[in-house]
Amino acid sequence: MHAGPSPFLDACRGRPSAHVPVWFMRQAGRSLPEYRELRGDRSILEAVRRPELAVEITLQPVRRYGVDAAILFSDIVVPLAATGVGVELVPGRGPVVADRFESRADLARLRPLDPEQDTGYVLDTVRALVSVLDVPLIGFAGAPFTVASYLVEGGPSRDLARTKALMHGDPSLFEALLERLADLALASLRSQVLAGASAVQLFDSWAGALTRHDYERFVLPASRRVLEGLADLDAPRIHFGVGTGELLDLMARAGADVVGVDWRVPLGSARERVGPGVSLQGNLDPAVCLAGAGPAEAEARRVLAEAEGRPGYVFNLGHGVLPGTDPDVLARIVELVHDEGRTDAPPGRGDPREHREP
Ligand code: CP3
Repeated sequence: MHAGPSPFLDACRGRPSAHVPVWFMRQAGRSLPEYRELRGDRSILEAVRRPELAVEITLQPVRRYGVDAAILFSDIVVPLAATGVGVELVPGRGPVVADRFESRADLARLRPLDPEQDTGYVLDTVRALVSVLDVPLIGFAGAPFTVASYLVEGGPSRDLARTKALMHGDPSLFEALLERLADLALASLRSQVLAGASAVQLFDSWAGALTRHDYERFVLPASRRVLEGLADLDAPRIHFGVGTGELLDLMARAGADVVGVDWRVPLGSARERVGPGVSLQGNLDPAVCLAGAGPAEAEARRVLAEAEGRPGYVFNLGHGVLPGTDPDVLARIVELVHDEGRTDAPPGRGDPREHREP
């Protein structure tokens, strides 16, 4: 059980940490040969349903990279699949939904999640992990908007045209959909934390497709329902999206302790946008890792310099590890961040964080 001091949790809480913590979105699976070997021909959802496999896949990157946090091996569609929505993860494509969400009648196909009954295997995985891990475990869920986009599009989509058409064509239905999906995410995240996860990340991967206006009207209330619903638990809440530079302040306002930043926004600007009292996570361009260790190290140093040694910073990529990434490059980045990342003395008077925690 992870019990000792954690640079990752310290940074999430805005406290100075022994070193700059680092983990990688999509660190499990993707590039690791030991993952491919273990999963064999099984689908991801099958692997998720087998705790002994999910535990091992979660641990593989922790062992190999020495990252400061583990992320649960699961997927954002697991609660949907577990409540009877026909969805598959198609290799090279992503989630594909058998029957698209089109009308009010489709709301009846979305029932609430009973975490122990429906996703007992996820909770068994979490419980087994926290008994062996010596770093914190991050639980996660898909944010209501991103999950809605798969339901409405039927699969991955470049422009989210159907999703936006439904949002503007039938706003009250769209709100009702997001509310259900918020309850699904909240139930799942609460159960993961109660089973032992130390922090959570809400993935709103595709929120960057929206105007600020639409985000504020439709998405923020639903994501806030999730994040505020976790406020009584002692688990930092990370809120992440891609292309969300123009939404970072709103994503913080939704109730995040940490806002994830993609590679487009310099960390200094991101800090100004989210304001005081919110930590940052990011934002090395994952594609740079494909260029090899030299270029990746140079960019990692640049990102570290932009973090300016301030407390409240978690090093990560700006999106998930890309397939084909050389694991040795990621290992080298962890070493570099641990060796060269600095956290300065605690912030001075007037920092709102000083009053945030008892
Ligand atoms: O280390 C980890 O992050 C592993 C756990 C994890 C998976 N999916 C397993 C998975 C996590 C955190 C996710 C989150 C997820 N799933 C997101 C949000 C993160 C992001 O990348 O923006 C999204 C949008 C999904 C939906 C999804 N599932 C996609 C788009 C894909 C890729 C399909 C493909 O083959 O390219 C999946 C499949 C998936 N989920 C895989 C794994 C290990 C298999 C393929 C892969 O490794 O990417």
